[in-house]
Amino acid sequence: MPPVWDAEVPSPYEYGRQSGELLDSIADLKSQLQSKYVEQNGVVSSLNEQSQHENGTTDPDDNDIGLQEIIVDGLCRTSDKEVPYRFLYDDRGSELYESITQLEEYYPFRAEIDLLNEFVEDITNHIPDGSLIVELGCGSAVKTAHLLNALIARHGRCRFVGIDVSESFLNEARCNLMLLVQGHLTVDLVPADYIGGLAQVRAKYPNESLCVVWLGSGVGNVSQKDAIHFFGDILDAVKSRCRLFLCTDMWKKEEILRDAYQDKHGVTEAFIRNGMSHALRILGHEASTAEELSSVYEVDINKQLKQVEMYLRFPQGLAVPEHGIHIRPGERVLMEISRKFTRESIQKMTENVGFHLQSAWHNQTYGCQMLLDEAEAITQCWQDTDVLFEGILDWSLKPIDTRHPFCFYYGHLAAFAKLKLFADEPAEDIDIMFSRGMDPLILDPSQCHSRPETPAEWPSRDQIVAYVSATRKKILKALHAGQFKGNHKLITFALEHERMHQETLSYMMTQDRKAAFEKTMAAVTAAQLPPTHISSIDPPSTMSIINALAKSKMVTIEAGPVVLGSDPKETGFMWDNEYPQFCTSTSSTFWVSSRPVSVGDFHRFVKEGGYENEKLWDAEDFAHFQEKGYKYPATWSLVEKEFFVHEFQSTNHWSKVANQPVFVSLSEAEAFCKWLGCRVFSEAEYQRVLDVDPAAELVLQMRAGGYEWTSTPFQGFPGFEPMSEYPEYSADFFDGKHFVLKGSSPVTHPSLKRDSFRNYYQKQYRYAFAKFRCCR
Ligand code: AVJ
Repeated sequence: MPPVWDAEVPSPYEYGRQSGELLDSIADLKSQLQSKYVEQNGVVSSLNEQSQHENGTTDPDDNDIGLQEIIVDGLCRTSDKEVPYRFLYDDRGSELYESITQLEEYYPFRAEIDLLNEFVEDITNHIPDGSLIVELGCGSAVKTAHLLNALIARHGRCRFVGIDVSESFLNEARCNLMLLVQGHLTVDLVPADYIGGLAQVRAKYPNESLCVVWLGSGVGNVSQKDAIHFFGDILDAVKSRCRLFLCTDMWKKEEILRDAYQDKHGVTEAFIRNGMSHALRILGHEASTAEELSSVYEVDINKQLKQVEMYLRFPQGLAVPEHGIHIRPGERVLMEISRKFTRESIQKMTENVGFHLQSAWHNQTYGCQMLLDEAEAITQCWQDTDVLFEGILDWSLKPIDTRHPFCFYYGHLAAFAKLKLFADEPAEDIDIMFSRGMDPLILDPSQCHSRPETPAEWPSRDQIVAYVSATRKKILKALHAGQFKGNHKLITFALEHERMHQETLSYMMTQDRKAAFEKTMAAVTAAQLPPTHISSIDPPSTMSIINALAKSKMVTIEAGPVVLGSDPKETGFMWDNEYPQFCTSTSSTFWVSSRPVSVGDFHRFVKEGGYENEKLWDAEDFAHFQEKGYKYPATWSLVEKEFFVHEFQSTNHWSKVANQPVFVSLSEAEAFCKWLGCRVFSEAEYQRVLDVDPAAELVLQMRAGGYEWTSTPFQGFPGFEPMSEYPEYSADFFDGKHFVLKGSSPVTHPSLKRDSFRNYYQKQYRYAFAKFRCCR
């Protein structure tokens, strides 16, 4: 039996120390561990000396036959020789890695601390009270302490299990947790490999909800293929009730990556070389031989696989004849890979085994994501839906007149999932009734895609709730019975469908909010308006808008090739309209405004008579807007000559949100652009901006905070084929009336945030959370 122990850790400090101080104390601790090595450039040679003298026969790995086999296996090949990365972490290697984390060039370590620090509150929101926190490779647990403190601050207590192969690390972890965590913490430490450790944890805590934590982008060392198996093994070991908090370094510019893995002090080089010494030592080969020391450290940035590759090249070759190892002169050995991720690649890696992205926190360099097992993900998704519907007081309301009332959507989500997940079972009448919504042509509402007939009266709220809960029970039961095993795609499909509807519900609710606001305000006189009522505030001048949007602040984008859509080999679930990839190009240089058109800008347009200026509009759009009496955006209200802007959860005087992007239809966006002598960009141009510098501030803003309208009519890419599970999803809307929107809105679920995602609405549709920018 390995020494597993429980320890109630008492707080050594008074209660209530601030997290800022905590981070300072982490920094102190780190600096003690730190730079005995990193002070001067002499570092490499002194390290090599130490590694020759101190390391050697005391290492418990020495003479381990199993380990020898693993090494021989990687080095006997005629090509693609490699040493598995685990050999990097003997005692010396672990110390060297600590030093790497302190290097100026090595950004991932600090980026992770920054990200955890920034979002720790929200992260704890996504870890249910009572979960057992299980950390893979907890190491010295210094970073974990921060997370545990936040959990304790929230829930009053926390239970932690650390898994690590190194018992010396576990001892260190115990000390650090005592030092750094205050409050009621239970600690259990398991010396084991990850999967073995998880199986032990599940055996000991058969019914607990687990939150498996994997920090440090450790998954970067594992190839995509092995990682997929690994995540599958995690689920097999823990069986169910599992979420995974996975931290990953993101793909970025080559120079930054190269500097981080080929630092100027040569610490990473020493780290990699030490790994080779360690491996050779295990083989009984004397580590200080001349051939080995003459090896050359090389870093490749593999753009195709999005990974950093670390090699040792042997100009003179190296032979360990007793193990049949012959490294030819000039040959190199792969010592480590460090994969860098994109949102797409993370989903691809986890989704096919049954992990679903629930939330994600990103900064420019780094990402943390919370992934849920299938049952947890579905349950959470339903809960999110229920929370939305709890906010709707009257389910019979129809806030958008061309669509169904709220109650329809509650039934629809369940019916859709049921019909897709149990496609081979006969459908009931109520399933059919709720099977599909409606989205008629705005300019001719008599035209609508195929759909079941709208009933004279919808079932009552109670009837719908009963139908939904029965359907959910049926789904969970089938799930637990393993009925959808191996068909994770179908589950993802139902989840994405529901999450898209959660978004449409949010903008329907915004319309509902607006109606309620106007009803209340109708009774109010100017004198009674709140102090936000400041009529003297004027929107920005037309000249300043032209400067900011159509002239000096524009970003120049050179013409170039563009690939639309994504390769199914690199991306997880996609809707049919996101592939096959389509290679096209932007034909000439264009300029795009560096910020979207704002509420303030649009206010000026309204004030200057933009809605009455026929020349700015398509004739039929102009006629439609006139007929409907639309004189300003759908999310605005006009009360006593003052505009108020409704957001999903708030309503503000326009001046309070003057710098926020304005949400309008494409018709309105085009009229505004024409007013400034500009246009809306095309889908290809949107993608071109992303390609030029995917991490640029402009791109980050384009991807979030509101979909971006494009001028591209919604069509399938060449070779498009409707998806068999839901052939109508896209194809019904290839009508020239719908246009592509890219990016995401403030309420888009993180699982939908992939660059290939294409949203689509009719040009005149005014309700979506959709922004736009000016382009020339
Ligand atoms: C421990 C996997 C996060 O890939 O950045 C650092 C290891 N290797 N420098 C990484 C490492 C070279 C590190 N991880």
